[in-house]
Amino acid sequence: MTNPSNSLDHLSAEQKRVLLAELLQKKAETESFIPPEYYCFDLYPEYLQLKDQQAHLQTHHIRNPYFAVHEGIARDTTCIEGQELINFATYNYLGLAGHPAVSEAAKQAIDRYGTSVSASRPVSGEKALHLELERGIAKFIGVDDAVLFVAGHGTNVTTIGHLFGRNDLILYDALSHNSIFLGCMLSGARAISFAHNNETELERLLQQHRHRYQRVLIVIEGVYSADGDIPNLPKFIELKEHHKAFLMVDEAHSMGVLGEHGQGISEHFGIDPRTVDLWMGTLSKSFASCGGYIAGCQAVIEYLKCTAPGFIYSIGISPANTAASLAALQILQQEPQRVTQLHVRAQLFLDLAKAKGLDTGTSHGSAVIPIMVGDTFKALQLSQDLFQQGINVQPMTFPVVPQNAARLRFFMSSTHTEDQIRLTVETLARSLARLGAGVQS
Ligand SMILES: Cc1ncc(COP(=O)(O)O)c(C=O)c1O
Repeated sequence: MTNPSNSLDHLSAEQKRVLLAELLQKKAETESFIPPEYYCFDLYPEYLQLKDQQAHLQTHHIRNPYFAVHEGIARDTTCIEGQELINFATYNYLGLAGHPAVSEAAKQAIDRYGTSVSASRPVSGEKALHLELERGIAKFIGVDDAVLFVAGHGTNVTTIGHLFGRNDLILYDALSHNSIFLGCMLSGARAISFAHNNETELERLLQQHRHRYQRVLIVIEGVYSADGDIPNLPKFIELKEHHKAFLMVDEAHSMGVLGEHGQGISEHFGIDPRTVDLWMGTLSKSFASCGGYIAGCQAVIEYLKCTAPGFIYSIGISPANTAASLAALQILQQEPQRVTQLHVRAQLFLDLAKAKGLDTGTSHGSAVIPIMVGDTFKALQLSQDLFQQGINVQPMTFPVVPQNAARLRFFMSSTHTEDQIRLTVETLARSLARLGAGVQS
């Protein structure tokens, strides 16, 4: 039965034609309507969400802890808004960023080569400094050779993205850095994360999946940057050998930090560095500059230098950045006491914090020490409270860390003094008690 109210019988053929034309016009208009948030950044929903978060902080009188302008060199202290603060917010682990010899090397490189190499290295950007730093890093680690990239983040993205593909499998630690994750995505390989530092789960995944794929890459970090903990490298090597996989270790936070001479996690565990296939590191932390490297066997380095998109289609690393890292590497080798000092200072911080009952999570033996707070808002408040008392430390909140795992992250430097550390832990414990968060019962 037709619904009488919907009947068009009373309309003439001409009226029906007009109505149909109107309906078709409306349909076309609706279909061609594109909501403005699809083509206008001001209305981007993600941007509006960011603005809401910023407004929320302002309502609660929390200053934005990000993008603070540092007015000079940031190492044990820094200057923000004209105020001198004890600084735990930069990765100047060995105090080499701002070291006179490192700055002088960068200046000399600019005088000799200019501020840019003005081409990709294969095209015409190659300088002797590049090769010297690559050989220096490789020798320091104990492998054949190394290749430099202009950014640490880009090093992971382009290397993982380039070396692995659709028929491969990548198994990566669940707390891996964003650059590792993006490299996995770019590669097109099947990528599965295993629970943080959980070799048992990794082994189960290898048993379950190894035979279905051609190449398998396992990716871990030497020190995890949000927690400051260290993986059981010998166990990962055992697994990679047994299952005929590649192992890549990101040493962003372990190079210059772990081991008696700062040679990283291989020295820490006393393992042969050649048992790891890909050593990745950044120049932005212990090496006082900007850029990244992959170190490994001759074949993989040659292949990356001839084919990796982030190398061949990108500018060569600048003379100043290369020379700064080279000088930093030389000082690190001449002055291993910087590493010892870093270990002593980090241990002191950890011991004092634990003695005060503060929750330092799983941090051990590295230069990254989180103070777990839990609630995001409290972590922001705590960071601000410390700032007002002359201590600069950044909060880490969701989504960078899991929900309810907000923390303050203290980066230690060999240049911190004992007094700075004692004062900081005292102040921190007092502030935490006042805010009622983070003290272990
Ligand atoms: C583990 C890890 N890998 C890679 C990077 C990227 O290095 P860069 O900041 O030098 O680009 C970082 C940055 O902090 C990191 O923590």
